[in-house]
Amino acid sequence: MHGLPELIDPFDRQISYLRVSVTDRCDFRCTYCMSENMVFLPKRDLLTLEELDRLCSIFIGLGVKKLRVTGGEPLVRRGIMGFFDNISRHLTDGLEELTITTNGSQLARFAEELARIGVRRVNVSLDTLDADKFASITRWGRLNQVMQGIEAAHGAGIRVKLNTVALKGFNENELFSLVEWCAVRDMDITFIEVMPMGEIGSQDRLQSYWPLTELRARLEEKLTLVDSAESTGGPARYARVTETGQRIGFITPLSHKFCESCNRVRLTCTGELFMCLGQEDKADLRAVLRNHPQDAAPVEAAIRAAIARKPEGHDFDYSRRRVSGRMSRHMSHTGG
Ligand code: 5AD
Ligand code: SF4
Repeated sequence: MHGLPELIDPFDRQISYLRVSVTDRCDFRCTYCMSENMVFLPKRDLLTLEELDRLCSIFIGLGVKKLRVTGGEPLVRRGIMGFFDNISRHLTDGLEELTITTNGSQLARFAEELARIGVRRVNVSLDTLDADKFASITRWGRLNQVMQGIEAAHGAGIRVKLNTVALKGFNENELFSLVEWCAVRDMDITFIEVMPMGEIGSQDRLQSYWPLTELRARLEEKLTLVDSAESTGGPARYARVTETGQRIGFITPLSHKFCESCNRVRLTCTGELFMCLGQEDKADLRAVLRNHPQDAAPVEAAIRAAIARKPEGHDFDYSRRRVSGRMSRHMSHTGG
């Protein structure tokens, strides 16, 4: 049976936003994200760029209006600019926004081309402005490389938003310098609570958990924050700073629930569709895709069946100094 083209889940939420992880690999090894000797997936498990295009195109045909390409680090996947170039054809037939979340390491190389293809905004993950701290948290990264990337993006006319993981004892003392750094560059910034995604080795995420309620209270000692009604249908809540005009986002999966307005699903680099970041249920779209190389109908049916199972919400909880609802998969696999 064929209904409306839109994807509507059991809680009457329209799914219009697809996040796609195109690789689990990364040129950094952020301590809260991966262990240093992270084992990556064998290549054959990944969707090819052609399969990614086919699948994303089907989603767009079903009403997805915003596509965010993530990883791992999406810009380290070989040939990824070809994927961007191809998928951008949909910017004239239903897709409203094509965007990317990146660690910025390759932006200096690709910013111009991304802009030409139609990428107008990117999110860059950056947790500190201190070169030594940056080297220690990313293990393999160099701050300078990311700074050049951000500059290149600006030079190409791309808006850059920072994503900053709030880490107790790490970037607490940079709260105002980060916000100020963004303000003078007319950039927004979003703070993210550290989430229990994947085994990372020795480090205890509970110890670095810095609730954004605390972070926000600290900001409000010096700045006036006015809550903004705008919602991206995701976990972020926004406030505007009266003094600077900039927007500050707060992604608080743990201290605050955001699921009611969820409009998104996540596709991993192996073609698994996760209907909720905080639940294990998934649908294997790769198998359907490979079993039906010519026919979109079975793939559409599999997508609809998956959306019909989208849960009402997640179960993350750090309360009582215990991590429950912990997810076995890594953020770099699901793509944030
Ligand atoms: N908790 C919170 N944020 C994380 N990221 C990666 N792993 C985690 C985690 N465990 C962040 C990255 C990036 C975004 C996509 O997800 O720093 O900003
Ligand atoms: Fe790479 Fe992002 Fe994970 Fe850091 S947080 S290791 S940049 S995927």
